[in-house]
Amino acid sequence: MAKLAVSCTLFIFFINTLFQSASAAYNVINFGAKPDGKSDATQAFLRAWSSACYSNSPATLHVPRGLFLVKSISFNGPCRHRIVFQIDGTIIAPSSYWSLGNSGFWILFYKVNRLGIHGGTIDATGAGYWACRKSGKSCPPPTRSISFVGASNIVVSGLTSINSRFFHIAIDECVNIMLRKLKINAPSWSPNTDGIHIQSSSGITISNSAIMTGDDCISVGPGTKNLWIERIACGPGHGISIGSLGAYAAEDGVKNVTVTDSIFTGTQNGVRIKTWARPSNGFARNIRFRNIIMTKVFNPIIIDQNYCPDNHCPHQSSGVTISGVTYRNIKGTSATPVAVNFGCSSSKPCTGIKLQVIRLTYFNKAATAYCKNARGSSSGVVVPGSCLG
Ligand SMILES: *[C@@H]1O[C@H](CO)[C@@H](O)[C@H](O)[C@H]1NC(C)=O
Repeated sequence: MAKLAVSCTLFIFFINTLFQSASAAYNVINFGAKPDGKSDATQAFLRAWSSACYSNSPATLHVPRGLFLVKSISFNGPCRHRIVFQIDGTIIAPSSYWSLGNSGFWILFYKVNRLGIHGGTIDATGAGYWACRKSGKSCPPPTRSISFVGASNIVVSGLTSINSRFFHIAIDECVNIMLRKLKINAPSWSPNTDGIHIQSSSGITISNSAIMTGDDCISVGPGTKNLWIERIACGPGHGISIGSLGAYAAEDGVKNVTVTDSIFTGTQNGVRIKTWARPSNGFARNIRFRNIIMTKVFNPIIIDQNYCPDNHCPHQSSGVTISGVTYRNIKGTSATPVAVNFGCSSSKPCTGIKLQVIRLTYFNKAATAYCKNARGSSSGVVVPGSCLG
């Protein structure tokens, strides 16, 4: 009996060892990276990636504790097997405003399939770049901190991204990406430092994340469908925005977006849909905003089809068709008297807008609702009262 138990244990031990050794580990230190924050680790990271990518088995690429200086870098796929990017340290960009060149990206994952990125901090050292932008000098093109382009089946969890020069995380032409437990942080005055930007992508989920930034916490561009956003703490920032849409005459639409169980604190907007006032075949439909708490938000609920930042206004009528937008269980305080603002297009009025259980006040006073070319219905207690036609 005892003999059998021992051989059983040995057998399980053997099986475990087999599976462990079936996963290869690549530590960037072994490829020449130094955790001193000064030596350029870009080539070492690329060599480690290349080994992991061509590995005969699932691979772990390990960035241990320490500070790793990395310039613009492109991790290209597809790879032979699944890769886990385990980051225990901090990846930092050289601080000068021109250090990331003209490519528009800092860390790019291009056509990568089956990747997990876990933990870690990335610091794009944006201060110099923001100062350049504010000074009116000519600056290099804006650089996204992490970009996924043409990627699929990706999980990013527990990552902290700070001080981006432009979008912190950008997702373009991707399928099936899950972002969770992220911390994103840039000062409220830093220009265009959106937390997460998505476009031309499907099956994206963002959850359990805290986003504090100088622009949209999450922005949803043309060609996004089947997007799920849950448990986000947004603020400071410009809120969660669908748009800007309608920049082009021919443009993909946005459909099936859910934003749920989230809080907005001191943001410029809460849940927003914005379009340029010019002809376009774009659309936004089947959108749900629900279970949301607003605290001192300047425009808690807003559709703006005459989006006009810095007075760059086309002054036409937006061709973007907005339909099927539900707002359910949205409560809290507005920092301006108009808590609900539907400014829709005169040529393409908004239709199928639903307000279900809304309670928004202007601090302790009554707030108001404004409607232009907006059609829909309300049910349950809706305060301020609905103005939908
Ligand atoms: C809408 O998107 C969700 C994921 O966010 C997905 O589960 C659902 O199937 C989609 N619905 C349709 C009709 O495509």
